[in-house]
Amino acid sequence: MKKIAVLTSGGDAPGMNAAVRAAVRRAIYKGVQIFGVYNGYNGLISGNIKELTLGSVGDIIHRGGTMLFTARSDEFRTEEGRAKAVEQLKKHGIEGLIVVGGDGSFRGAQKLTQLGFPTIGVPGTIDNDIPCTDFTIGFDTALNTVVECIDKIRDTATSHERTYIVEVMGRDAGDLALWAGLAAGAESIIIPEADTDMKDILERLRSGHRRGKKHSIIIVAEGVGQASQFADVIKAETGWETRVTVLGHIQRGGSPTAFDRMLASRLGAAAVDLLLEGKADRMVGIKNNNIVDVDIDEALDQKHQLDLSIYQLARSLSI
Ligand code: F6P
Repeated sequence: MKKIAVLTSGGDAPGMNAAVRAAVRRAIYKGVQIFGVYNGYNGLISGNIKELTLGSVGDIIHRGGTMLFTARSDEFRTEEGRAKAVEQLKKHGIEGLIVVGGDGSFRGAQKLTQLGFPTIGVPGTIDNDIPCTDFTIGFDTALNTVVECIDKIRDTATSHERTYIVEVMGRDAGDLALWAGLAAGAESIIIPEADTDMKDILERLRSGHRRGKKHSIIIVAEGVGQASQFADVIKAETGWETRVTVLGHIQRGGSPTAFDRMLASRLGAAAVDLLLEGKADRMVGIKNNNIVDVDIDEALDQKHQLDLSIYQLARSLSI
């Protein structure tokens, strides 16, 4: 393989730049020409493809977002769109592709391999919802952002003696809400992977109140519902002053943490190595701090497993 390409797709995640940098530098180190596909799968279809050099990826390891831009491509979901994409890759003489993104992006990668084009997936999403890897690129940075926000909310919650309901991203996964909730000492954490027992949530709030605690923080994963719905119930049942904060896209921005830069560097380089070994239809991941690769079809058939022992721990520490 003499020419490969890299693209970022789906929701951006801090550390995507570090992954692109690693892929580019590893490829050049191995004597392979590497191209950047701009705007995700849309750029693949339109041929927005440019060669990347060592200098193209200088000064980006610490930057959030993605220098290659990203998109959620409707056209790539069609057979015609995918045919155009393969045509563009062939036109540029590209023999293998690295896709940095979430599960939707991996499904795109899977389709390309089915069309005979070798593709490797690198998990990049703040949701941490990809099976077969302990962490996805961007999760740790988003987690730290959420915790920092909750710490700030706690200051005002304490001063005003209010109950705050904070809505956290994660799509259908509760990882971000759960880890942030434990790290920030939330009173209750509401996630899709565990049953929501409103009676239990109210009882925990009341028991804190009885021992003199006048402020509380409840974290709601967006996959369960809107924070405002929970706030309405709590206010109606307790009469306490409640406020809602939806953290939104602030969770996707910012300079990646050292952990995310490390993870992205290791995974980006591993993806290049796999392509050069002639492998395709695989995703790279991290398991027990070892870089692993697994069949992308097998990974997509599995359901991401949230560690429920963390949920139980958080409950036992917020009594
Ligand atoms: O997958 C990342 C993510 O930020 C999810 O947590 C969230 O549900 C979704 O993307 C938001 O997508 P968009 O930026 O397209 O509104």
